[in-house]
Amino acid sequence: MTATTPPPLAADLTEGLKRLKMAAMRRLAPELLVTAKTLRWNPEEFLRTLIEAEITSRDESNARTRLRQATFPVTKRLEDFDVAGSSIPVATFDYLASLEWIRAAENVCMIGPAGTGKSHMLVAIGIAAVEHGHRVRYFTAAELVETLYRGLADNSVGRVIDTLLRNDLVLVDELGFAPLDDTGAQLLFRFVAAAYERRSLGIGSHWPFESWGRFLPEHTTAVSMLDRLLHHCHTVVTDGESYRMKQARGRGGTNIKTS
Ligand SMILES: Nc1ncnc2c1ncn2[C@@H]1O[C@H](COP(=O)(O)OP(=O)(O)OP(=O)(O)O)[C@@H](O)[C@H]1O
Ligand SMILES: [Mg+2]
Repeated sequence: MTATTPPPLAADLTEGLKRLKMAAMRRLAPELLVTAKTLRWNPEEFLRTLIEAEITSRDESNARTRLRQATFPVTKRLEDFDVAGSSIPVATFDYLASLEWIRAAENVCMIGPAGTGKSHMLVAIGIAAVEHGHRVRYFTAAELVETLYRGLADNSVGRVIDTLLRNDLVLVDELGFAPLDDTGAQLLFRFVAAAYERRSLGIGSHWPFESWGRFLPEHTTAVSMLDRLLHHCHTVVTDGESYRMKQARGRGGTNIKTS
């Protein structure tokens, strides 16, 4: 903190910066003017410092907005994922973390049993993508289908899908937890077909692809959906024991058994 409060900015400057919505500049300018005078900054340096502060502040604020809009159910980070303790090869993990596949509009499917890190990876990738400037939206499959269903009521499914595909990456977790009815499966197909080669999808499911008929009632829909989903797709199988169970045992829950 400075010993003395810097003199306020001239009223017309304050007004101008307000009108231009340069909040960070407006906040920093009074003190920076004092510093610039005291340290005899050249005018260019003064201007650069102000502009950089505004850009940084905008970037941070945009990232916060994107993070809110992504509606992640939890906060998980790639740094907190124990790659060695998972079945994901390091090279695969590194490639997913590079986010290159998002720029290429490719998909990722995380397939494996409960507690093996599918949601952790999807959310962590999503957060990393947000931090790199991407727009991301997380859904469980049930939430996505419900959202599309609502569009049926007022004939706006196409618009709903277009809005969703303004995101660079749409995460659809827990696919197959509950079976879909015919309409739900058709809606999901429409969404996957619309995203095909345009946007990245990140899918999480317990079910290996050959079992998708268990939750997709109609064979042709299942085949056509998988065909599009898997054309440009990185499939990651998360295998092994549930991390939740491992942690519970580590905390002394010795009577917890897995079948
Ligand atoms: N390799 C890992 N390193 C660190 N934490 C992990 C790892 N795998 C799983 N976890 C943690 O274990 C818990 C369960 O993982 P997660 O929610 O990702 O499982 P899941 O595969 O999505 O399971 P489900 O199919 O039941 O939804 C989470 O708290 C997650 O952060
Ligand atoms: Mg999960």
